[in-house]
Amino acid sequence: MPPSQLRYLAFLSDDPASLADFYARHFALDELGRSNQGDVSLTDGFYNMTFLRRRADLNEPHMDLGLHHVGLQVDDMARVMDAYRRTTYGDVVVAEPGGIHFGDQRFFDPECMPVSVSEGSFGAPAKRQSRVPHIAHIAFNALIPQRTLAFYSSVFGFRELTNSVNFRGRGRANRFAGDGVTNLAIHPYYHDTEGHEARFGVNHFGFLVNDIDHKLETLSKEIEVVARPANRPFAEYRLVDPEGNKFDLSQAKGWEVDIDVWEVDGERRHGRFATGEPGTRREMGSAGRP
Ligand SMILES: [Fe+2]
Repeated sequence: MPPSQLRYLAFLSDDPASLADFYARHFALDELGRSNQGDVSLTDGFYNMTFLRRRADLNEPHMDLGLHHVGLQVDDMARVMDAYRRTTYGDVVVAEPGGIHFGDQRFFDPECMPVSVSEGSFGAPAKRQSRVPHIAHIAFNALIPQRTLAFYSSVFGFRELTNSVNFRGRGRANRFAGDGVTNLAIHPYYHDTEGHEARFGVNHFGFLVNDIDHKLETLSKEIEVVARPANRPFAEYRLVDPEGNKFDLSQAKGWEVDIDVWEVDGERRHGRFATGEPGTRREMGSAGRP
């Protein structure tokens, strides 16, 4: 297993049971369990998606409804803690309750967004079950994306992706990092691109699917389904769940999850692509399997 991987996605919810039911039905997620306080945790075979009932005793600095924070499984807590402490921002470490709804320790990234850390798998299967649908993308809004990328690289060993280098070369602030399973997009909070929906911290996440038409048909019975404008370079669909959380659906465009490694059409492909140009994913040459 690579040193650290995103494994956990926490929401604050006013109705965790209903929201969990929505995701479980549409994305074939399994329930890991629920707490007496009303928290519900699901898995796609790798991730733990936890819907925490929003309440004061969570003692969270940010109590906004919705997507809240991420968590990572690390191979060696002492080593990662040391790397964290060596950053300018690594003064605060808070113990978390552990179990299936929380991590074991809490760090904060350079923009004070919480990050849960555990040597365990957050109650999800220890060995990844590669299923479709699965979460393949998490997107942040940050004031300084480069600084957040540096944090994830130095503390957790994330690799900056080819697509990120492309954006960098065009003078754009967007950064992309991978851990082998997840494409972590770090978009600038302040941005004047048409259609940019700012939300500080965890902005949205994305499922890779292999039956997008069927998914859209069933989802459209419960939420509004609108295709992304053709000039948007990323996932095909941006949807909003019943509590207002934004999530992407992608099949043909997919996501780069490690350097020149893409999850596309429900399978893993190796090669160099660019998603930055409007509406296209242009093959730039391949290394390995097409
Ligand atoms: Fe996205």
